[in-house]
Amino acid sequence: MAARVISRSYSAGLLKNGNRIAVQKVNSFSTGPTLKVDKKCWIVGTLASVTGGVWYALESVNASDPKAMPSPLPWTHKDLLKGYDHASMRRGYEVYKQVCASCHSLQYLAYRHLVGQTHTEEEAKAEAAEMTVVDGPDDTGAMFERPGRLTDYITGPYKNEQEARFTNNGAYPPDLSLIVLARKGGEDYIFHLLTNYTDTPAGVKLGEGQAYNPYFPGGAIGMPQVIYDGLVDYADGTPNSASQLAKDVVTFLTWVADRSLEDRKQIGIKALPILFLMFAGSWYATRFIFKPLKTTKYEFISRIRKQKF
Ligand code: HEC
Repeated sequence: MAARVISRSYSAGLLKNGNRIAVQKVNSFSTGPTLKVDKKCWIVGTLASVTGGVWYALESVNASDPKAMPSPLPWTHKDLLKGYDHASMRRGYEVYKQVCASCHSLQYLAYRHLVGQTHTEEEAKAEAAEMTVVDGPDDTGAMFERPGRLTDYITGPYKNEQEARFTNNGAYPPDLSLIVLARKGGEDYIFHLLTNYTDTPAGVKLGEGQAYNPYFPGGAIGMPQVIYDGLVDYADGTPNSASQLAKDVVTFLTWVADRSLEDRKQIGIKALPILFLMFAGSWYATRFIFKPLKTTKYEFISRIRKQKF
């Protein structure tokens, strides 16, 4: 017991057998041995040097990569108390449909997911109906084509990976449903990737159909620049600069990758008062029930011999 007595407060009383009972307060309730200072220093020092070493190793790996690092951008959904910018998501869907859909699929997004988020049910049905889906087999055993429905997923333009690679000089346009979560830097990376195609620096050789982008690992990317000023006309009159198009499509893709973010934040806000009450309860219990019990020492003093036993 590493308790040190700093205050003694006796409240004495008489027991039935004539013995007095004295209650003595002890300041600490630690039951383990106290660490010596030099041992503490040793542990902290080791931890600091291991952390420093790992950090240095990771940093030097990053530094040896010629890739540009995307700077963090002020997305509304990064705000603790805000959700997605839904008007931006709706415009972003338009950009995806008119630009990206010719090469990339969104295999985990069905048209029904758009309802109430970017489109009304009628609008989403109309969007789905624009797609032709191969369904079947019918009663004669043949496959048939039908217009898309709300329950259909947004499949890409290619039948398989081979066809996609063959069309894109060997590069495979990945499915974009989870791309924001799948890349380091997330939405910041994809925004910078879309808006920062540059001239090829001297000494860099590009392959067939490749373009140069300093944000892409290695610089040579199989996707050409696809976002330009004024490429997509917005129905809501928002100026359609390249950075606006990129911001909108990335907001849309971030929502596709993480559709539960808004629900999570709402539940979090509701849970805060409950957590506060639980914290207050445990603080009260520790301070007024647990601590006094652990720091109170009972001593029995004999009335006859007037000494401790
Ligand atoms: C002409 C076809 C084409 C179009 C249109 C296109 N892409 Fe791509 N995209 C590709 C190809 C091919 C790759 C693979 C590049 C590689 O691996 O070198 C790719 C890769 C990507 C990647 C992954 C980059 C990485 O880090 O691996 C993202 C993100 C992406 N595209 C987003 C988009 C978005 C958003 C749009 C629409 C604004 C779009 N693409 C339009 C062909 C296209």
